[in-house]
Amino acid sequence: MIACPLICGSNVKTPYFDRLQRRGHEAVYFCRDRGSGLRALIAFHDTTLGPAAGGTRRWAYADEEEALQDVLRLSEGMTLKCSAAGLNNGGGKIVMLAEPGAAPRREQYRALGRFIDRFQGHFVTGEDVGTGDEQLRWISQTTRWVVGLPAAGMDKPETSAQTALGVRLGMKACLRRVVGKDDLEGVRVAVQGLGHVGMKLARALAREGARLVVSEVDPGKAQEAAGQLGAEVIEPQEIYRTDCDVFAPCALGGVLNSRTVESLRCRVVAGSANNQLGQDGDAERLHERQIAYLPDFVINAGGAIDNLAMLDPQGYDADRVEEQIRKIPDRIERLLDISLEHGISTQKAALHMARERLETARQARKETS
Ligand code: PHE
Repeated sequence: MIACPLICGSNVKTPYFDRLQRRGHEAVYFCRDRGSGLRALIAFHDTTLGPAAGGTRRWAYADEEEALQDVLRLSEGMTLKCSAAGLNNGGGKIVMLAEPGAAPRREQYRALGRFIDRFQGHFVTGEDVGTGDEQLRWISQTTRWVVGLPAAGMDKPETSAQTALGVRLGMKACLRRVVGKDDLEGVRVAVQGLGHVGMKLARALAREGARLVVSEVDPGKAQEAAGQLGAEVIEPQEIYRTDCDVFAPCALGGVLNSRTVESLRCRVVAGSANNQLGQDGDAERLHERQIAYLPDFVINAGGAIDNLAMLDPQGYDADRVEEQIRKIPDRIERLLDISLEHGISTQKAALHMARERLETARQARKETS
């Protein structure tokens, strides 16, 4: 058989349009800027609920195929996240292809902003892995369609703190159900990754009496958690088999896969990372092992809720944001109920919940058009 000439890199043989169709994507833009050397992919997954929203990830991908796969999966995750959280936005995501070890460059982010600006508000971006406040400021020099930078004098919690809040509340709701415990006193939580969200989550958990085990590639951050929070630091690959009540993936995606799920020794998986499951079937593996997996796109929605509240024409309302984040534990409880009642994985239950709202919106749109 002759390989499809369209496909580069790894051994994927499916043509591009089939791949868009299979997961429901609307468009992927390949963006390059001659002057700065920017190479970026902008994906629109499903904009039934509103303009596409999603962070900008900057990463040294092995090849273009890996970058494309990432942007496709992440943008789909954003559709599900917005839908499940009751937000009126669609799913989008941007990945910037970086050279290994290269520092982020202002000119590339400014060029990216010019691309985003062409969509005139149909795409809004924000923070993600590799893109922090400074990079958001660079994007904001060429487009206003960027969220996450508080306006001067605006007093609001950091977005990462809001994500951590949702994760902690969801985790507690689940522990109440699964182990009948109302607080975190003595609960052993294994936190993978001490980035913006992971560190804040670890701090909040420690304040409530949790015993922490952490893994982190940056030794400075690991030491900080050990010194300030009394965390036990373990090697990155050990985090999957450490004995704990809760495993909290707060680093990159794909960590729950055929290899790791078998080795987990926890009751609950509740973390902030996007795309925690390697493949859909991994949710079933967790279900079979009776590990309560709290679907990432439901539990980590605090950041998206907070970010998108900045677009509110009436202005950012901190109380309303908190009210929305406090609905995350209710949603988690509902998913656990459905999972128990119907004998399906929490992931399946969550997909059903998110897709139902999309379908209703799609029908309503058809009727009015
Ligand atoms: N990247 C973050 C997320 O995955 C935050 C974000 C949400 C950024 C919405 C922009 C828009 O949720």
